[in-house]
Amino acid sequence: MSFIQINNLTHIFPDGSTGLKEINISIKAGDFLVIAGANGSGKTTLCRHLNGLLRPTSGSVLLDGISVSKDLLRARQIVGMVFQNADTQIVGESVYSDIAFGPENLGLNRREIDARVERVMEIVGLQDLGHQKPHLLSGGEKRRLAIAGVLAMNPEILVFDEPFSNLDYSGGQQLLNQIIHLHKSGHSIIIVTHELEKVINYADHLILMQNGRIVRAGVPETLMGEVEAFGVREPCTSKYGLGLQSWLS
Ligand SMILES: Nc1ncnc2c1ncn2[C@@H]1O[C@H](COP(=O)(O)OP(=O)(O)OP(=O)(O)O)[C@@H](O)[C@H]1O
Ligand SMILES: [Mg+2]
Repeated sequence: MSFIQINNLTHIFPDGSTGLKEINISIKAGDFLVIAGANGSGKTTLCRHLNGLLRPTSGSVLLDGISVSKDLLRARQIVGMVFQNADTQIVGESVYSDIAFGPENLGLNRREIDARVERVMEIVGLQDLGHQKPHLLSGGEKRRLAIAGVLAMNPEILVFDEPFSNLDYSGGQQLLNQIIHLHKSGHSIIIVTHELEKVINYADHLILMQNGRIVRAGVPETLMGEVEAFGVREPCTSKYGLGLQSWLS
């Protein structure tokens, strides 16, 4: 099982502005990490380094000790990323073919591909929309499609950038259930979210970002009381001393 080690990662954008400043994180196999912080704090920029969409200006991102940018193909097989902007991930003519695209590129046989596509369509609730053209889907359905495409690849490490935005209540619950299930079956989970109350019960670690830096890191409970200083809404249950309660019914 894979682990991620980020050492002194700094990212300077082409315009000279600083995206990330001396980030150090280690993510063990099977960890459940939540990254939070205000808009523009660098969360998506950090995620983009995890599968080599951006290259470090300095520092390193290592997957099992090997630099992500040294072997992008390998990194992208191990790290599956559900992007914040779901539209950019759509490649197929139909929902079905879009989801099948990834497994087809893995060289799996047709039976295995069909089995995977059907399973993940069920998980994200798109089983009745297999023939639909992706560009006709609603915003929430597009997000479900992007999630299905990543799940179908069965990557060891899953990165979700704002996975709950645009999903309705049951869509959000289904997704969270699925994420918990993936975590229990050994996958590492990294979630960027403003909705701490949904995930905080399940997370092992919480990282708070501000201006491209990690400003707090630790076990979620120990950071309650501090998160609002960094533009993140604290789960009500923790604020009123009720203990962290599950969002799932
Ligand atoms: N290519 C670029 N050139 C210059 N600045 C950039 C570039 N890409 C992103 N930025 C800036 O970097 C900062 C961090 O952006 P990022 O997308 O990582 O924020 P975020 O924490 O994901 O925010 P949000 O919660 O809104 O998704 C922002 O101020 C953004 O404007
Ligand atoms: Mg973002």
